[in-house]
Amino acid sequence: MIVGSIKENTSLEKRISLTPDSAKSIIGLGLKVCVEKGYALHLGINDKEYSDIGVEIKSSSKEVLNSSDLIIKVNCPLDEEIKILKDNTILIGMLNPSKNINQINKIIDKKIKPFSLEFLPRITRAQSMDVLSSQSNLAGYRAVVDCVAEFEKAVPMMMTAAGTVPAAKVLVIGAGVAGLQAIATAKRLGAIVSATDVRTASKEQVESLGGKFLTVEQNEDMETAGGYAKEVSDEYKKKQAEMMKEALKKNDIVICTALIPGKPAPRILTEDLVKLMKPGSIVYDLAAEQGGNSAFSESGKINSVNGIKIIGVKNLMNSLPLTASSLYAKNLFSFVRNLYSKERGDFNINLEDEIIDKSLIKKN
Ligand code: NAI
Repeated sequence: MIVGSIKENTSLEKRISLTPDSAKSIIGLGLKVCVEKGYALHLGINDKEYSDIGVEIKSSSKEVLNSSDLIIKVNCPLDEEIKILKDNTILIGMLNPSKNINQINKIIDKKIKPFSLEFLPRITRAQSMDVLSSQSNLAGYRAVVDCVAEFEKAVPMMMTAAGTVPAAKVLVIGAGVAGLQAIATAKRLGAIVSATDVRTASKEQVESLGGKFLTVEQNEDMETAGGYAKEVSDEYKKKQAEMMKEALKKNDIVICTALIPGKPAPRILTEDLVKLMKPGSIVYDLAAEQGGNSAFSESGKINSVNGIKIIGVKNLMNSLPLTASSLYAKNLFSFVRNLYSKERGDFNINLEDEIIDKSLIKKN
């Protein structure tokens, strides 16, 4: 059985799905691996690093697609790539089916088996494959690094002979995977951190990282059985906005990470709320690509309103593609290991396995 990987469109996506380390692990399972020439050169990884561990270097993407039984990718393949894929190939990636519905239909019509790792169940056994967590964790870290680079003041408190510099205040909205890492990173840099979330369970996690939890009083449990947030009521939104009024006046940096799976990003910061912030403050919106948690945020842009910078994130993983690829490739390896049956010498699409069933995209 051959596992292959081809280049992404590197002007849009710098991550790769196969690193030399993950290739070695896949070969260790008893599988063959191939990539196209110059596969990871844009990340400074040359073909020799792959060939030295037994990866076959093919002269083109066409050759890889033609000869592989399983293709691993970051993003959904393009139409021209789908045409070349062999019938019955297994395809694994972050295929984003709601956005790429036409490609997915073509893939299924060719009897290719598409697995989209965004749909993995959040269960213990799938943790090592959880691409959303591995990438969001990095996003939370990077959000703080980007904010600090844009912020025109120092972050930690400094006591100097020339006077005391106060610590910057950071507010994190949404304390999920990205939010918790943002809290931890901002604390490490010496900021005074607070955070809010609709799920009461997150209070303990925020506090364990040294953050202050800002509670919005509520009667209903806002957490689903899967651990995600429910959509909030209008009454909750009003109470949250009241709480935000005070918090926004005090904070220098606000990092927005609120997400409800399958829905547009909840709009939490209205125009009036953003304008309460001090000039020189920053709103960093990780949810900008899903519509944004904040007014004035546009994906891929920095907007300035009354001296407040509103940063709308786009393709954030392209700013740390080596780390993002390393974690993504490890996630993929864990998925491939679960799919491969050594005894049969074949991939076993066992729909009784929740991991396989939930991530396989089926017709309609
Ligand atoms: P997550 O689901 O782990 O966390 C989201 C949190 O928001 C949850 O704790 C949830 O309870 C909370 N939340 C939902 N509605 C809320 C509300 N109205 N008020 C306060 N909190 C609320 O999601 P994760 O993985 O941390 O992702 C966060 C955001 O970052 C998402 O929008 C995601 O798409 C984005 N992201 C962007 C990346 C990029 O490259 N641009 C990479 C990774 C994540």
